[in-house]
Amino acid sequence: LSATVSHSPAVEMEGIRLHRLLTAYLSSTAIFAALELGVFDALAQGPGTAEELAARVGIPERPARVLLLALLGDGLVSCAGDRYASTPVADTYLVSGGPKFLGRLIAHQNTHYGKFTDLAESLRANQAVTRGENYSAAFGGTDGWAVRLAEVFRSSAQLQAGELAGAAAVTGPRHLVDLGCGAASYSIAMALANPELKVTGVDSPPVAAAARACVADAGLAGRVTLVPGDIGEDAFPDADVVLLSHVLSGYSREHAAGLLRHVHGWLKPGGELLVHDHFPSLAEVPFPYQLGLIMMVNNTRGGEVHSEAQVRQWLAGAGFSGIESRAVTGISGLVRARR
Ligand SMILES: C[S@@+](CC[C@H](N)C(=O)[O-])C[C@H]1O[C@@H](n2cnc3c(N)ncnc32)[C@H](O)[C@@H]1O
Repeated sequence: LSATVSHSPAVEMEGIRLHRLLTAYLSSTAIFAALELGVFDALAQGPGTAEELAARVGIPERPARVLLLALLGDGLVSCAGDRYASTPVADTYLVSGGPKFLGRLIAHQNTHYGKFTDLAESLRANQAVTRGENYSAAFGGTDGWAVRLAEVFRSSAQLQAGELAGAAAVTGPRHLVDLGCGAASYSIAMALANPELKVTGVDSPPVAAAARACVADAGLAGRVTLVPGDIGEDAFPDADVVLLSHVLSGYSREHAAGLLRHVHGWLKPGGELLVHDHFPSLAEVPFPYQLGLIMMVNNTRGGEVHSEAQVRQWLAGAGFSGIESRAVTGISGLVRARR
């Protein structure tokens, strides 16, 4: 083996970037720990010294200093003199009870985290680290698993559903069918964005039941109906618009292409299909490139990130036309097509 060693400043900067990547786990774990200890809630009571914040969260002063400095490095707290304060991003997303609190999503990422110790083995064996058969196993498998799962989907949608509803701009008195609706966050956002829209959300029976409670919470039970079903089997020929949000990336290539063919088989002529997912080419951050690793370590029966180009090719192959793509959030994009 031989390697060409460069001493150019640009490559040395890349070396520093590489250092950032290999220590990125410190950023994630600092957030997990700060949430578990209630640091952001303590900061929401007002700025304080490390000593004061240590007392508020009930840990000794040295670990409080260490953790606050770590959070300062990532811009999650600010510091003036010796007093730490919350930053707008932390106030918005990291204080429990806030409308945009990401606590459930963060706790869920923390459950993935431990599995990544075995990533190389997972890649070598093409096997999940989690051996559970389905979502229920990953969420405790006992009573209430679908409610816990829906809470994670709802948390993740905080960053995306309103933006998708704006980008999709589905106007007028139409019927939207949200296939694999999860917590129905996208159904709800689309209904809020268009008062004339009627929505049917479809998911497996326990998830559909959990979604029904979310819809009732949002006061939309009159316009958003939840239907338990199998999206690979069921047909909704009176749909004007069909949404598939974050469904295809849980599927293998064959399964994903097959689902698009299935939808084409029952969607009425002129009907629209919206595919919202973590498409690398439509994103601003590395996450969509890396989501497949989460699919590897968890049991998603062949799930991986499918590129925008790949989805467009499957749509064309299934017979869809007028295929268009656009970015939606920094982490997701939309491919839309007409039957
Ligand atoms: C990653 S979640 C996405 C949920 C939601 N669309 C969102 O974007 O937050 C995928 C959802 O698709 C559902 N799903 C996948 N395959 C399904 C099938 N064959 N029938 C019914 N639901 C299915 C899962 O139960 C899960 O709730």
